[in-house]
Amino acid sequence: MSDKANIGVTGLAVMGRNLARNLARNGQRVAVHNRHRERTDELITRFGDEGKFLATGSLRELVDTLERPRRLVIMVKAGTPTDAVIDELVPMLDSGDVLVDAGNANFTDTRRREAALIDRGVHFVGAGVSGGEEGALHGPSIMPGGSTDAYRELEPILRSIAANVDGTPCVTHVGADGAGHFVKMVHNGIEYADMQLIAETYDLLRKVLGREPAEIAETFRRFNTGRLNSYLIEITAEVLGHVDSRTSRPFVDVVLDQAEQKGTGRWTVQNALELASPVTGIAEAVFARSISGQPRLRADAAGLPGPSTEPVVDAPERFVADVERALYASKIIAYAQGFDQIQAGSETYEWNIDLGAIATIWRGGCIIRAEFLDRIRAAYDQTSGPAGLLADDDFREALGEAQDSWRRVVATATAAGVPVPGISTALAYYDTVRAQRLPAALIQGQRDYFGAHTYRRTDLAGVFHTEWSADRSEHED
Ligand SMILES: NC(=O)c1ccc[n+]([C@@H]2O[C@H](COP(=O)([O-])OP(=O)(O)OC[C@H]3O[C@@H](n4cnc5c(N)ncnc54)[C@H](OP(=O)(O)O)[C@@H]3O)[C@@H](O)[C@H]2O)c1
Repeated sequence: MSDKANIGVTGLAVMGRNLARNLARNGQRVAVHNRHRERTDELITRFGDEGKFLATGSLRELVDTLERPRRLVIMVKAGTPTDAVIDELVPMLDSGDVLVDAGNANFTDTRRREAALIDRGVHFVGAGVSGGEEGALHGPSIMPGGSTDAYRELEPILRSIAANVDGTPCVTHVGADGAGHFVKMVHNGIEYADMQLIAETYDLLRKVLGREPAEIAETFRRFNTGRLNSYLIEITAEVLGHVDSRTSRPFVDVVLDQAEQKGTGRWTVQNALELASPVTGIAEAVFARSISGQPRLRADAAGLPGPSTEPVVDAPERFVADVERALYASKIIAYAQGFDQIQAGSETYEWNIDLGAIATIWRGGCIIRAEFLDRIRAAYDQTSGPAGLLADDDFREALGEAQDSWRRVVATATAAGVPVPGISTALAYYDTVRAQRLPAALIQGQRDYFGAHTYRRTDLAGVFHTEWSADRSEHED
């Protein structure tokens, strides 16, 4: 056996360290490097006996320690640090080497980096890695982009470290150049939407029914035994059931209610605007976090009047069942929108992404892992039309069954003054796409009136304009 490593990792903060350990535990010979040597030494001291590690003190040494073609994973802070590492590494690499950026890069950066390295013959692979630090250690969901040649070099290694569901590793070649980071970005956007919907559900049970966090934790535990079964519902029950040791109060009551964000949700929405892909659930989730993080606005608005009467729910258990149905229906919409964005990106950037394969690799390892993804995978086996997931019989049936509950929940929340932007935007989207006639016709009329922007008619071919400020005659443009 060669004394060289078959893969290298540079960047040994929590993600890189755990990924390196995962690789070593699965039989890879892993060369490790970090800008400041201390992290490398700490990895070897604490975990060196978990597998074959080769500690290196510089990028030069790291590159020289790798067998050819070299496989090298960068796991440093996203943005300029990643560019700095690439710039330093590239002169040391040879044609055929594979450079993987496993950080949370913006896919547009990945496209730029990949294009810059093509001429040198270096394969650049932007790989989305989801599952946080636990996932990196025990099996993440991995979304690699880049060329098929590069994926061939990486595939056996990635399959050995990825999460595994029913014997299928949670990794697939997503598509060329930035496709992997694009899909990871949308994954995170969907994660934002899912978390927001769950948070709204909690808020309703708390404010409308007056239930305590510990009781609501039990409700989520029950939800988790049914079709909502997922990692996010499971951890929601854990967080709601947790009691603060300093004050003996529910943990959720002592945490500042200002949700932070690192940017992938915002990127998802920015890109959705570019693609004209209406991810309203993700957008509301991003904005809900933004509003929560504006204490001055919230303090100023605190005295604004609310509803004049308190809501009365005379059948609390029926309301809980309604909320479960509303959550499930809204979740279908949020995921449908996210998958539609992936489809739109796939067409725009010519990636030919297999949506069913994406659902498959999200079943394990990542934050949105859930039984639900199995249903999405099955749906994409059956359908590929523009209605996406909403054309699937099982989802149509679930949306049909949820109708009255979903509307009662939005009505009750509105009457009670409890904000449910995620649940209500899902319902609004649903009603919009199913409507056979939209007030867009009126908007076209307004546009023609003030800007002579023209319109098309339902009964005649061609483009028309009405002389609004003259005799209101219509002529063909
Ligand atoms: N944390 C998560 O749950 C998670 C999940 C998925 C993806 N990610 C992504 O994974 C990547 C790593 O995340 P992380 O949380 O482990 O670490 P991080 O805090 O994002 O970054 C710290 C690492 O980057 C290195 N670094 C920073 N600036 C550098 C520079 N100019 N040149 C060389 N190295 C530099 C640091 O080296 P020094 O030790 O020398 O400072 C350290 O190894 C990021 O892109 C992150 O977005 C994180």
